[in-house]
Amino acid sequence: MSTTIAAPPLAAGVAQSVTSGSVTVPGHVAIIMDGNGRWAKARGLPRIAGHREGSRAVRRTVEAAIQSGVSWLTIYAFSSENWRRPLGEILDLTGLLRRYLRSEVAELKQAGVRLRFIGDRARFDPDIQKDLEVAERDTIANSRLNLTIALSYGARAEIAAAARAAIAAVQAGTLDAADLGEESFSRFLATAGMPDPDLIIRTSGEQRLSNFLLWQAAYAELIFLDVFWPDFSDAHFSAALREFAGRERRFGARKD
Ligand code: IPE
Ligand code: IPE
Ligand code: MG
Repeated sequence: MSTTIAAPPLAAGVAQSVTSGSVTVPGHVAIIMDGNGRWAKARGLPRIAGHREGSRAVRRTVEAAIQSGVSWLTIYAFSSENWRRPLGEILDLTGLLRRYLRSEVAELKQAGVRLRFIGDRARFDPDIQKDLEVAERDTIANSRLNLTIALSYGARAEIAAAARAAIAAVQAGTLDAADLGEESFSRFLATAGMPDPDLIIRTSGEQRLSNFLLWQAAYAELIFLDVFWPDFSDAHFSAALREFAGRERRFGARKD
């Protein structure tokens, strides 16, 4: 049985947040999980120790998202540009990914989490590509939390690929170029069918998007935290949701 996406495709920028009582919970939270290396360095440990502790923070955050009633959580685990790192670190990261997929997916499935992966998965070893496919297939019927992991992901590459796919559709005669607008274009993105993020959190003190969800972030609220990702806790998550609830979102319109 497959689940259908809760909401029909919406125009870019339309809020997915749910207001229950007086608190607005963001429907889609996206996180740039940054600062693993600095966390390790501050403790005199190798970077891999930071990445390992970072995967524990992922576990806590998934749990916190479920508890808070967030339905979409997207996490940036590895960027297209991260392939520029030394081979040793890349091997450490892909090794951790392998272990994460083999040890966590069964539990995520049990918890009602549906997994998706966005990014250029062809760059990973075939066994990892297979595990990604299996994880998506095994959790397809879940809908408690939609967890999307961005791996080998870059927004500019995503947008360029979407443009190529749109051109191919026009050439095949299945799309009229005059009909290509914001909504129809977004269906060619890796995030097709997903709501735009309402809130983007970045840890580690850096204040940039680093090529993450550039199209989808058009009206996201941004929160930058001075905490390294391995130290990110459910308390940070709840505090970010409270800050989000206090923000006024206008989407370009006037409130008076
Ligand atoms: C985030 O931590 C994880 C990845 C980008 C893979 P970093 O490895 O970027 O840690 P810092 O930013 O160097 O501290
Ligand atoms: C962004 O972090 C990518 C991920 C968190 C996966 P980076 O550490 O790669 O970003 P920059 O290089 O500081 O912009
Ligand atoms: Mg970093």
